[in-house]
Amino acid sequence: MAVLHSQKLILLVVILWFCMAVCTPPEDPIRCSSKNSNCTITNSYGAFPDRAKCRAADVAYPTTEEELTSIVANATMNRRKMKVATRFSHSIPKLVCQEGEDGLLISTKNLNRIRNVDGLSRLISVESGVTLRQLINEAAKAGLALPYAPYWWGLTIGGLLGTGAHGSTLWGNGSSVHDYVVQIRIVSPAGAKEGYARVRTLNDGDPELDAARVSLGVLGVISQVTLRLQPMFKRSITYLTKNDSDLGDQATTFGNQHEFADLIWYPSQRKVVYRLDDRVPSNVSGNGLLDFPGFRSTASVALAVIRTTEENQESRGDADGKCIGAVLTASLLKTGAYGLTNDGIAFTHYPVVGFQNRLQASGTCLDSLEDARITACPWDPRIKGLFFHQTTISIGLSKVKSFIQDVQKLVDLEPKSLCDVELYDGILMRYVKASSAYLGKQEDALDFDITYYRSKDPNIPRLYEDILEEVEQMAVFKYGGLPHWGKNRNVAFEGVIKKYKNAKSFLKVKQIYDPLGLFSSQWTDQVLGVKDGVTIVKEGCALEGLCLCSQDTHCAPKKGYFCRPGKVYENARITKLESVTIALWGLFATALVGSLTQVTAYESVAHSSTGMLSEP
Ligand SMILES: *[C@@H]1O[C@H](CO)[C@@H](O)[C@H](O)[C@H]1NC(C)=O
Ligand SMILES: *[C@@H]1O[C@H](CO)[C@@H](O)[C@H](O)[C@H]1NC(C)=O
Ligand SMILES: *[C@@H]1O[C@H](CO)[C@@H](O)[C@H](O)[C@H]1NC(C)=O
Ligand SMILES: *[C@@H]1O[C@H](CO)[C@@H](O)[C@H](O)[C@H]1NC(C)=O
Ligand SMILES: *[C@@H]1O[C@H](CO)[C@@H](O)[C@H](O)[C@H]1NC(C)=O
Repeated sequence: MAVLHSQKLILLVVILWFCMAVCTPPEDPIRCSSKNSNCTITNSYGAFPDRAKCRAADVAYPTTEEELTSIVANATMNRRKMKVATRFSHSIPKLVCQEGEDGLLISTKNLNRIRNVDGLSRLISVESGVTLRQLINEAAKAGLALPYAPYWWGLTIGGLLGTGAHGSTLWGNGSSVHDYVVQIRIVSPAGAKEGYARVRTLNDGDPELDAARVSLGVLGVISQVTLRLQPMFKRSITYLTKNDSDLGDQATTFGNQHEFADLIWYPSQRKVVYRLDDRVPSNVSGNGLLDFPGFRSTASVALAVIRTTEENQESRGDADGKCIGAVLTASLLKTGAYGLTNDGIAFTHYPVVGFQNRLQASGTCLDSLEDARITACPWDPRIKGLFFHQTTISIGLSKVKSFIQDVQKLVDLEPKSLCDVELYDGILMRYVKASSAYLGKQEDALDFDITYYRSKDPNIPRLYEDILEEVEQMAVFKYGGLPHWGKNRNVAFEGVIKKYKNAKSFLKVKQIYDPLGLFSSQWTDQVLGVKDGVTIVKEGCALEGLCLCSQDTHCAPKKGYFCRPGKVYENARITKLESVTIALWGLFATALVGSLTQVTAYESVAHSSTGMLSEP
């Protein structure tokens, strides 16, 4: 019955999911109670890893570099803390947050002009608030293309550089946008003699540019970026589904076989989707278009149904329901060719051939007709929609095989454990290359992007909490992976700066550009190793990835979740659901000593554990 029910729901969802419609654009992440002052800021998902609400006394919206410079100067003179914010604020960690409440936010929302496109030298200069979509479109008008980029075009250039965002390739200079930057103009604090602010122009070859390519926003405000582009070209894309028996070997070599190779892995279904994607001569016919379903505007009703289904599956411990949904989601994506069409209208066959600007990224949910939130981006926090964690770690190519095999061992032990990840379109695996950027990739690597259910209540453990935590800890600690600066939960950043060989050079540049640390915050100091305390240790902290558990109270012992070693990686410290009997005994003991409220808790836990008991 329950299974049938959830199937029906998923079908309903599917029908609604594919309906294209106008949508409500995401709201400005900055909200002020009076005009531009007394403000709060959040990210586009409406929640930071620790669910803190970040505040700022004021926000400034400069429209030119001159205005920006005088804003930085005035704040520097007054020794005020500053942070750069963008129109959409996509970074999950607290990069945009200040310490305290009297800081100044400088939004790049109105620094959104294309300054120059030079078809001959193949260079484009843009202000830092320009979105990836704008850049792609404007370059295309001049017959130029950005060769590699993130797949979601709602990022600003300043924001995506700041966090090291990338596409997928092992060719050329790699898939990171920052490795195609030839000039950055950046506004930083300065002394009284220089008028309290200084504009620097950093060119290719300048070692300081290697600090500014990926800067986490701590060097000042990037005002303008110049990128080296290529003549427009065409690509030919084919998706091929295979089993994952030899994925460890394939993943290591596949990136050398196709220029734009990536993989989508469904570990519980034991399937992997290979993207065979290469340049083709421009006389090959085809006018393909990408409009990825997960980035389309989606009916709010459908999103609410998806979320409610997930919440019910979680509270009932219905792993089977999730696995059925995972198979359906994967087969729908496959039927829908992952959002590709041959001509902008329909998908009829592979390969899909088309121009780079039409295939490299998408995100139609940003299109801005207000429709009273009948439709929206799937993660829009104003509606009941998707709410998730994102663990995104790049692992050196030489270690990828062992990591994949470790994950496969976990799936052998708990076959249904990763169905949840598959409901969020599987594990996206993209290739990245070693970069000269001080905070860029240290070696050629494969980036694993894992998205999974997050409870609205931070104290409620997830289904198969333990397996995902073990995967996360293997990636970060056993295989020394690098966390994406703009994604991830706190634990992924534990000791992160030690993994960067040029960290000292970065900090030296930071000291020169902003000796007072006006653009630094507690979070950036912590990840850069200037301060301790990336993780937050408190009751239940492991449930949200705020800490590695070392005691049971970091998990949820009253709900039967204890701190235990991993199954495949013994050094892991994971939140494990023990046999319910033990949990109940624990509760029983508490109840003996405790109060009536605890007895009530006992009953509700016993009730919600019934579903989990039926799982083998
Ligand atoms: C700032 O806004 C909050 C509500 O967000 C309000 O409670 C507070 O009084 C405001 N403070 C000032 C100084 O306006
Ligand atoms: C300079 O900063 C002060 C205090 O932060 C503020 O009151 C003033 O409006 C600012 N002036 C300009 C021109 O932004
Ligand atoms: C890679 O970067 C270097 C330095 O910026 C540049 O000289 C070279 O042309 C780039 N190569 C490609 C293939 O883009
Ligand atoms: C996976 O596919 C290969 C061929 O690509 C086949 O030889 C192998 O038996 C398959 N493994 C499973 C478990 O189906
Ligand atoms: C494309 O152009 C090349 C020469 O530039 C030619 O050899 C080839 O046959 C052409 N292909 C098609 C499909 O027209």
